[in-house]
Amino acid sequence: NYYAILMAGGVGSRFWPVSTEEFPKQFHDMLGTGDTLIQKTFQRLSRLIPKENIFILTNERYNDLVLEQLPEVNQRQVVLEPAMRNTAPCILYASLKIQKENPDAVMIVAPSDHWIEDEVAFTKNVEQAFSYCEKHDALMTLGIQPTFPNTGYGYIEFDKSSNEVIKSVNQFREKPDYETAKGFIEQGNFLWNAGIFMWSVKSVVEAFKNNQPGLYAHFEKGIEAYNTDAENAFISENYPLAENISVDYAVMETSKNVFVIAAEFDWNDLGTWGSLYDKLGKDSDNNAVVNARTLTEDASGNMIRTKSNKIVVLDGLEDYIIVDKEDVLLIYPKAKEQDIKQVLKKVKDTF
Ligand code: GDD
Ligand code: MG
Repeated sequence: NYYAILMAGGVGSRFWPVSTEEFPKQFHDMLGTGDTLIQKTFQRLSRLIPKENIFILTNERYNDLVLEQLPEVNQRQVVLEPAMRNTAPCILYASLKIQKENPDAVMIVAPSDHWIEDEVAFTKNVEQAFSYCEKHDALMTLGIQPTFPNTGYGYIEFDKSSNEVIKSVNQFREKPDYETAKGFIEQGNFLWNAGIFMWSVKSVVEAFKNNQPGLYAHFEKGIEAYNTDAENAFISENYPLAENISVDYAVMETSKNVFVIAAEFDWNDLGTWGSLYDKLGKDSDNNAVVNARTLTEDASGNMIRTKSNKIVVLDGLEDYIIVDKEDVLLIYPKAKEQDIKQVLKKVKDTF
């Protein structure tokens, strides 16, 4: 009865120029391991979930990329979105389809672009979550020990008094402002939301029904069509009209039955070149090098990646991102990595 929803619809614009709208980061070998991020995620989930029960949710324009990179997957498992409406519509739609196929399903919802090295610990935590969700009406999260007041994450306040592995959650707060995040971290009983969820299909559908009745009704009216030939017509007409909202705001902040397991594995959501740099091995001068041959002198802390194993010679450069593609060469300070999104906009407007 185990299922997975793998979310692969994002664009990853802070990883420009490698990640683009036509070819987003989850379809790239960002780590230089020989596998793309979506391939790594699929392998990780296959340890727990029968391959045929892993559904990939993505924009319709990435259909071919998914089928090409995951040859084990058939078209039934690739669920296509005609528009980007964030994670709540995507998860609700997939959940209703899965529920129709198997009302007893227990599932994991996971992004396709995260770094998790310790797959044994990951598997263990997900198994703990699954066995709880099989018996209880629970929305289970994985919590990461926070290290600084990151305002891009969700925060999970857990019950301090509990000695159990599975702790009940007092509040889930998506993307608080800096001061609030700082306060949370000082209190000690807050974890970052890893963005990975586990629940029975029954529980998640109930959560949408109670907390987002409008969104629920929107997708429920197509239920007859799901998993039939009539599905495409319903979805292309109705999906783009769904509210644009993330699952964190839509159901996690508003539900009472949220639980957390403190993750026993290292986690990184690979959002920026800097976060990738942190996770890669370094040369003797602390440069992270993917797919390049380097000669460096007085150069450290740089993130270097080329398209075709180019020779890169550096002298007197510190903490930069150096990334090339056929038509683009980016040389940009790591400290300003968040601005790459805006840089990309400027580039599009200019050229
Ligand atoms: N299929 C599909 N369709 N996938 C999507 C869509 C969509 O419309 N929108 C986003 N995704 C995918 C992204 O590619 C990503 O893998 C995942 O869903 C989460 O979306 P993000 O946009 O990256 O969310 P976030 O980073 O702002 O916040 C979430 O993740 C954090 C941890 O990385 C939240 O869950 C936070 O609470 C959490 O801390
Ligand atoms: Mg993210």
